Amino acid sequence: MNRSAVPPPVTAVMDVASAWLPERMSEVERRLAEIATAHGPELGVEAAATLDAGGKRMRPLLVLICAGDRSEERAIRAAVATELIHMATLVHDDVLDGAPVRRGRPTVVARAGRERAVGVGDLLLSRAFAELAASGDEAEVRELSSAAVALARGELAQRHDACDTSISEERYLHRCSLKTARLFESACRVGRLSAGGPGAEELAGFGREIGLAFQLLDDVLDITGPPERTGKARGTDLKDGTVTLPLILALRKDPSLAEVSLAALDAAEAERACDRIAATGVLDEVRERARGGIESAKRRLEGEHFSDAERSLLALIADGMVERYS
Ligand code: FPP
Ligand code: MG
Repeated sequence: MNRSAVPPPVTAVMDVASAWLPERMSEVERRLAEIATAHGPELGVEAAATLDAGGKRMRPLLVLICAGDRSEERAIRAAVATELIHMATLVHDDVLDGAPVRRGRPTVVARAGRERAVGVGDLLLSRAFAELAASGDEAEVRELSSAAVALARGELAQRHDACDTSISEERYLHRCSLKTARLFESACRVGRLSAGGPGAEELAGFGREIGLAFQLLDDVLDITGPPERTGKARGTDLKDGTVTLPLILALRKDPSLAEVSLAALDAAEAERACDRIAATGVLDEVRERARGGIESAKRRLEGEHFSDAERSLLALIADGMVERYS
């Protein structure tokens, strides 16, 4: 695979993995490119640009590692399907947010408009399920369709809560479970299912916990930036009216933050609000929670179902999530 496009946690995993993993990841990448360009210029150009914009490919990597070195075609299809679902949700998310950039590049909606972006997202989602259908495994279709439902429910819950600074930590965590953790959980479970091995539920729990940690850290990064690393402006969540854990905790320490009117923030005001949240000291608290989640996730793999090689690859991915952001 093209290593220049691959982020550090993934290259670290590739460096220690045996040849089977990079080979299968390359095959996943090749199929993603083929799918993106298979639908004519109308949709193909934008779908291919979405794919080219990179991304961490954490989810397909988890599918393949959880499937193991003896897995074959089904695992590759499940990995492709999982990444396509992820890409579809990001394209749709950017439509809903009217987001100008993602991963440092113009979004599909910014380049091609709402109609085309909705179509590209629909295409990617449909192709995901076509991949699974080709494998013909009902449990895999069930797993990833319930993950897609969770993603949509998470997005709707986030819209429902927009600009509501009174939402509880539990509600925020519930939203994160639906919006982010569920697809990580499903990536791990579907990987194991595709190979028919034991330990699927332990792996699902591992995925859920690292997914939640990933979202917590993502929400910290929205406050800290810098935009050169995050690919988007600081305070984007606040400007979108998304109340995240840093703000929920900061409000307890500095109740005057409640006067910030999220619905009406411009870019400079959003940055100032980020500085005020950071000044309360809550970001370390959120980072610490995320680290705790990563450690707890790794402990789920202590049982007999896992080889040392599997444990160390999964631990690298889990640790890489935290290191990327520290
Ligand atoms: C990005 O997170 C958004 C999501 C993880 C979920 C978006 C879900 C939908 C748009 C529902 C559509 C569902 C399907 C199955 C097509 P974020 O907004 O926290 O992060 P960001 O900063 O990357 O935008
Ligand atoms: Mg978003």
